[in-house]
Amino acid sequence: MGRKLLLEHAQVEGMHTYDVYRKNGGYRSVEKALKTMSPDAVVEEVKKSGLRGRGGAGFPTGMKWSFLAKPEGVPRYLVCNADESEPGTFKDRYLMEKIPHLLIEGMITSSYALGANTSYIYIRGEYSWILFILEKAIAEAYAAGWLGKNILGSGYDLDLYVNIGAGAYICGEETALLESLEGKRGNPRIKPPFPAVKGLWQSPTVVNNVETIAAVVPIINDGGDEYAKIGIGKSTGTKLISASGNINRPGVYEIEMSITVEEFLYSDEWCGGIKGGKKLKACVPGGSSVPILPHFLVCKTAAGEDRMMTYESLSDGGFATGSMLGSGGFIVYDEDQCIVRNTWNFARFYAHESCGQCSPCREGTGWMEKVLHRLENGGGKMSDIDLLVDVAKKIEGNTICPLGDAAAWPVSAAIRHFREEFEWHVNEPRVCMERNYGLVREKIGV
Ligand SMILES: Cc1cc2nc3c(=O)[nH]c(=O)nc-3n(C[C@H](O)[C@H](O)[C@H](O)COP(=O)(O)O)c2cc1C
Repeated sequence: MGRKLLLEHAQVEGMHTYDVYRKNGGYRSVEKALKTMSPDAVVEEVKKSGLRGRGGAGFPTGMKWSFLAKPEGVPRYLVCNADESEPGTFKDRYLMEKIPHLLIEGMITSSYALGANTSYIYIRGEYSWILFILEKAIAEAYAAGWLGKNILGSGYDLDLYVNIGAGAYICGEETALLESLEGKRGNPRIKPPFPAVKGLWQSPTVVNNVETIAAVVPIINDGGDEYAKIGIGKSTGTKLISASGNINRPGVYEIEMSITVEEFLYSDEWCGGIKGGKKLKACVPGGSSVPILPHFLVCKTAAGEDRMMTYESLSDGGFATGSMLGSGGFIVYDEDQCIVRNTWNFARFYAHESCGQCSPCREGTGWMEKVLHRLENGGGKMSDIDLLVDVAKKIEGNTICPLGDAAAWPVSAAIRHFREEFEWHVNEPRVCMERNYGLVREKIGV
C-alpha cells in the first residue's frame, strides 16, 4: 500500500464536517504556520518539498510563489483553480466533496505564506452541489476561528470566498479565470504581465490547482524534506490520478510518484487490469489534452525501460514516443475502441470550448471537428488525414493560451500512432460505421 497524504481519511464517515476533520488531525498546518513560522519560512518549506503544480503544467509551486510581486500598499490574492473541466479528470471533485476542509486548510496556510488577506476558490459551474459543501465548510471554519480577523491571535486576517463559474472549460486557464472572477467574459489575457505581477484586479495573484493547495497541508505538517523523500527525481510526493475507461476499477487514486504504469494499470490496488480480459489498445495518461500512447508505449518507453507514473517518465521520448502526466486523467482504451471516433469526440469538445479570441484556435478547432466527423461518418478522403496534421500544426503555438495546443496534440498524436486506422476509415467507411454503431447499440442494449 502506498502512502496517502491527501486521501488517507477520505472514506471516514462524516469527513466533510468540521468536527470529524479536526478529530483526524485537521488544521494542524495552520496552527504550526501561524504560531511558529514566518510567511517566508512556509514558502521555503514548499520550495524544499519540490511540489509541482497539479493543474497540468507541473510548474514548481515554491518558485511560482517566490515570483509574487510585493508592492507596498497593494493587496495580494490567492485563487484556487477548481474549474476542473478537462475530460478524464475528476480528482479535484472527489477531494472537495469528501474532504472540503483539507482545501480550506491549504488555502489558509498558503494565503498566510503569500500575504493574501482575501482569497477565492473558483469552482466549475457543473459542480454546483460542491459549492454548497464548500460554503458550509467555510462557514464552519469561520465559526471555529480559522477564518476571519486575527486568526489564532496571530494578527493575520483572511476572508475566503467561493465563486462558481458558468461551465466553460476556458475559465480553467488562469487568466481567463481571473477575467471571469472579475465579472467579465472568460477570455485569456496576453502574457506578460503574468498574474504574479498583475492578476486579479491588476494586483499580484497566485493561481493554484485544488490538489496543489491541499498538498501544502502535509508539507507544512511533516516538512518539505519528508515530502521530497517520496517519488523519483523532480516528481516528488503523491499524485491524485483519475482513472477511467475500460478498466476493472475506475476511480480516484492517490499514488506515490514511484510506481510503474504497469503496476498502476494492472494491480488490484489501482485499475485492476483491462475490463473483460480484453487487450490494451491505447492510453491517454494525463487528460484529453495530452498525446495518446499506443499499447506498446504505455508500460515501456521507446528505449524499453519501465514507464513510471512521473512527469519525466511519461514524457520520455517527447511527443514522438511519449506523452505527459498533465492533470492525471488516466483514460484506458481496450482493443474494441475506435481511435478515430475518440479523436473526433475530443475535437468536438475543443471546438465547443474554444473562446474564439484567436483565429487559429477558433477556425482550426472547428475545422478539425468537421474533418474528423466526416472521417468517422463515412465521408472522409485520404487527403483529410494530412489536412488534419496540417491544421493541428498551424494551431499549435499560435494562440494566446494553450487551449489551441490542447486541441491540436491529441489529433496529431492519434494520426502519428494510428494512421492505419484513419486510412481504414477512408477505405472501408461502412465497415467502420457499422462496427462503431454496433458497439454503441450493444452498450445501450438496443
Ligand atoms: C484551457 C485550459 C484549461 C485549464 N483548466 C484548468 C483547471 O480546470 N484546473 C487547473 O488547476 N488548471 C487548469 N489549467 C491550468 C491553469 O492555467 C494553471 O496553469 C493552473 O491552475 C496553475 O495551478 P498549478 O500551478 O497549481 O498547477 C488550464 C489551462 C488551460 C489552458
